[in-house]
Amino acid sequence: MTGRFITLEGGEGTGKSTQIRRLAAALEEKGIAVLCTREPGGSPGAEEIRKLMVEGEPGRWNAITETLLAYAARTDHVARTIGPALAAGKWVISDRFNDSTFAYQGVGRGVDRETIRRIDSAVLDDFAPDLTLVLDLDVKIGLERALARSGAETRFEKFGADFHEKLRQAFLDIAKRHPERCRVIDASGTEDQVAETIFAAVARRFTL
Ligand code: TMP
Repeated sequence: MTGRFITLEGGEGTGKSTQIRRLAAALEEKGIAVLCTREPGGSPGAEEIRKLMVEGEPGRWNAITETLLAYAARTDHVARTIGPALAAGKWVISDRFNDSTFAYQGVGRGVDRETIRRIDSAVLDDFAPDLTLVLDLDVKIGLERALARSGAETRFEKFGADFHEKLRQAFLDIAKRHPERCRVIDASGTEDQVAETIFAAVARRFTL
């Protein structure tokens, strides 16, 4: 039996990691085995590539190089972490997946959508999430939350407010284009409210 693949997407500081922990705990309570992972990263090789992408100055990579880095990491992540877990019947929850490349490198940095689609199909074939939760939040609030965290992973935060406004629209457009797969979640409520909305969406989709 294969598991289910759920992704959380959205801009900076939308609360994805907290909500992934909450969702995993709720599913485990129902007796479901869950693996939580993230992108870029989620396998030893992909975590190395993550550092190249999220640390340093915005101009470190051009847009197409950045796209290829994201997919280099993703191929390894799918082959070594996501695929084996799904095959073992686990449910996999990933903090970001390919929608982030369409939003950040596509809409944000200007790589043509068709170019990303071709790379995606060459690398992933038809592999896609069963359900994608798009966490939607006011950009200013999200960036403030993200900036309050310490650490070296600040490269994308430095792209500026306009870039992040474009991303918010990009994620909403992705959800509109793929209504069968995506649900937009209002992330402006309390942690408990957002967790409840997310669990309800998951329970409806998989009839839990
Ligand atoms: P995080 O801050 O949500 O952990 O994500 C790491 C950063 O990487 C975030 O700023 C978005 C960016 N990113 C891309 O630009 N392209 C991608 O394909 C992925 C998965 C993430």
